[in-house]
Amino acid sequence: MKHLTDIKALDQASIHLLFDLADSIRSTPVATTRSWHAGRSAAALFFENSTRTLCSFQMACQRLGVDVTALNIAHSSTQKGESLRDTLLTLAAMQPDLFIVRHPENQIQQRMIDWLPPHIGMINAGDGTHQHPTQGLLDLYTISQHKTDWASLKVTLIGDIKHSRVANSLIDGLKIMGTQQIQLYAPDALIPVALKHRNAPNLPAALEGADVVVMLRIQKERLPLDLDVDFATWHASYGLNSETLSWAKSDAIVLHPGPMNRGIEISDAVADGPQSVILEQVTNGVLIRQALIHHLLSQS
Ligand code: NCD
Repeated sequence: MKHLTDIKALDQASIHLLFDLADSIRSTPVATTRSWHAGRSAAALFFENSTRTLCSFQMACQRLGVDVTALNIAHSSTQKGESLRDTLLTLAAMQPDLFIVRHPENQIQQRMIDWLPPHIGMINAGDGTHQHPTQGLLDLYTISQHKTDWASLKVTLIGDIKHSRVANSLIDGLKIMGTQQIQLYAPDALIPVALKHRNAPNLPAALEGADVVVMLRIQKERLPLDLDVDFATWHASYGLNSETLSWAKSDAIVLHPGPMNRGIEISDAVADGPQSVILEQVTNGVLIRQALIHHLLSQS
């Protein structure tokens, strides 16, 4: 494997391999892991805003000894009319081993792979509304630290499912792990047609018996102009707070990929409360990305 653009390219065995690798990296001093890929280099191209994903990839690279260069697109020649292909080939001519790309267009990384020389790897750090495979992996890895039996889990995702690449990668990942009970809850307009059968009739039904609750932001930047989402009433209908969380199992864990809109999809008390594993997701994100980058760079 040289690339990861879609979590569906992985099977249970390869996901377990990445989890085992992340576990062993967790217990290896950074001074040691820094020597694993010394001399290799990566280029991070983020055509959309990012806080945790970009920093997480940068730290993952650095902790493996990979020199990472992040291109600030707002200050790049894209603003002078350079085509995406020319930007990519210019950077490829500097001979990095790996590209890490986030872009608003669905499946663009697959096209980029076709433009690039075959020895350069590619990781999708989020493409439009399509996939965010490393987020899916870090979510699964975090769940695996709290829950043991994938087959009997009930996982509930609440929020803007339709525009969420995080939801797509997590749902695909859960199916790979054998989870059957994947429950969604959102207004009809924010559920993809193909997933409507998974939409709960109301919030109590969505949360009842849930082992894992995943809250998602409304992707304001991706909403169609004619869709009017009422942010003022969102929390009352779709929000997670101490009362609504009590409808889930008492040992349910709460995930959120960030960025959180506190007071809209999630209350402060839940985001900062004992059932929240949101910061564990961030810590695990660096480890799982280290595992993936180590795995990809070890193939060449
Ligand atoms: C998400 C993304 O960019 O897809 N954030 C992330 O990567 N952790 C979710 C979001 O923007 O709401």
